[in-house]
Amino acid sequence: MCGIIGYAGRSEAVPILLDGLERLEYRGYDSAGVAVVSPENELQVVKTKGRLSVLREHLAEQDPLKGQIGIGHTRWATHGEPNDTNAHPHVGADGKIAVVHNGIIENYLEIRASLERKGIHFASETDTEVIAQLMEYYYRKLGNLMNAVYAVLGRIQGAYAMGILCRDVPGQMIAARKDAPLLIGYGEDGNYIASDVTALLAHTRTVTYMEDGEVAVLTADSVQIYDRERAPIDREKHTVDWDVSAAEKGGYAHFMLKEIMEQGEAVRKTVSPRLQDGRIVLPELAESAEFLKGIRKINIVACGSAYHVGMVGKYVLEKLLRIPVDAYLASEFRYSEPLLGEDTLVIVISQSGETLDSMAALREAKKGGSKVLSIVNVMGSSIARESDIVLYTWAGPEIAVATTKAYTTQMVLLIMLGIYMADVNGRVAADEYAALVNGITELPEKIESLLGDVDICQKAASHYFNRNSVFFIGRNLDYALGLEGSLKLKEISYIHSESYAAGELKHGTISLIEPGTLVVALATYAPLLEKTRSNIVEVRSRGADVIVVATEETAPAVRDQATELLIIPSTHPLLQPVLGVMPLQIFAYYVALNRGCDIDKPRNLAKSVTVE
Ligand code: M6R
Repeated sequence: MCGIIGYAGRSEAVPILLDGLERLEYRGYDSAGVAVVSPENELQVVKTKGRLSVLREHLAEQDPLKGQIGIGHTRWATHGEPNDTNAHPHVGADGKIAVVHNGIIENYLEIRASLERKGIHFASETDTEVIAQLMEYYYRKLGNLMNAVYAVLGRIQGAYAMGILCRDVPGQMIAARKDAPLLIGYGEDGNYIASDVTALLAHTRTVTYMEDGEVAVLTADSVQIYDRERAPIDREKHTVDWDVSAAEKGGYAHFMLKEIMEQGEAVRKTVSPRLQDGRIVLPELAESAEFLKGIRKINIVACGSAYHVGMVGKYVLEKLLRIPVDAYLASEFRYSEPLLGEDTLVIVISQSGETLDSMAALREAKKGGSKVLSIVNVMGSSIARESDIVLYTWAGPEIAVATTKAYTTQMVLLIMLGIYMADVNGRVAADEYAALVNGITELPEKIESLLGDVDICQKAASHYFNRNSVFFIGRNLDYALGLEGSLKLKEISYIHSESYAAGELKHGTISLIEPGTLVVALATYAPLLEKTRSNIVEVRSRGADVIVVATEETAPAVRDQATELLIIPSTHPLLQPVLGVMPLQIFAYYVALNRGCDIDKPRNLAKSVTVE
């Protein structure tokens, strides 16, 4: 979705803004622009529909925009089609104030109408232009920029992260936030704002996360944050431990492939600090033993792949804890009048920590009296900050839109949480506990050995990449895994794909199977192997080509039914999906590669979905 970068410093702003925007590209966008205040105090704006390369061309055609203070934006259209005029930054009618904005201003039509009645002419269809026009209106009326900013914030409703420049106050950049992420970076040659930490990593790792209702004034040498009442406040600085190379391709053709290959290390980083002397240690829950004993129901809430982790969690946690565990799509949960209360734990899973539907579900859960534990990758993100308890996955920055290493680390951490809770509640026998911990300890190496040889998956992808439709089938944990395999394939290759519980086939889906239909059958969950095998026989006997994913242990039972057999290492059955997802990711990646798709930035998708 939209991205913001801003800089006030001693270097030329345009290269810094373009570099920042490039690092935000992965979020998805359809237009981009920059505004820079020149040494002569002119407000210069260049913006265009299309990729950053087009913006670069436009900038190259003009004299380079000189100036050491500027704001930049990548826009993912919501109000008004993607075109040059609707692109940000937006400038008021007097040409004095420029604004970039993420979020949605809900009462923009009403404000626009009132400004139009005063004779102000609007150029774009966007909600953001309302901010720029209203700010100039108040600036004219009040004669002071900060007064104008606070007057605007008092009138607008909705969500915003914004960067503001005014040519009359040429050394200052103003930032404001409510319900949309914005952080401040402290660099050696100046100060920054950004909607996402990856835009800053090349310049600084010292950041402050702005809170809702705050306004910040940045110059080359200073940063001052103010609260809603305009009182200055001190805010803690954080050091981000991601480094810039973690957000670069490092020789891989795509971020997705790099992130697939990083999964061994990402899981190692997520689990090893939490394993000590054969025990799972979760300091975040050290004070919560009594609360954990009182939980009677768990709702796992998330979107997309994170929801698929929740589906795995439903099966695993229910088996371990013997209490009802449900997985919900956040967009449904929030409007379903969910049954909540003190004895219901709500677990929110999110890589970005900014997904709007998940955030809204979190608030709903808290309103209903439940505690919220979140599993999040991005430190300091909104979901992390509003949760009662946060467990961080240490996957590092994930840039490809299609999640891989975040999905895997979320799953391992959720399972670890389940084992920990089962232990606190006396629900897991010592030998089972030891087997699970042993399985988790061995996971990073097993992942690395699996990813060391991807030839068979790659070959399967080159055989089947031109199919129009693919079905995934599996039972229990394999069903949950199939949901993710199917999403991975369709989101990056644009092949139609569905995932079914294998036992459901005979209730409808099997009518779709005809000679040559491609089915990916997941036969990794040993306890239901015989049942899954029967379902594979059913589709095979109707002429389907069947790629079977099996473990070293289950492969002998299904080998004769497989058109292609992808074998993964065996582990404890409850951990098997962690390994099972990898051939599915690799298959999806190479299918998309063979089809010439834009793998890291699939059409219409954004990395972090901050609209409803
Ligand atoms: O940042 P989140 O984990 O909250 O994102 C949730 C989904 O949008 C996300 O998992 C999406 O489905 C993936 N990009 C798909 O690969």
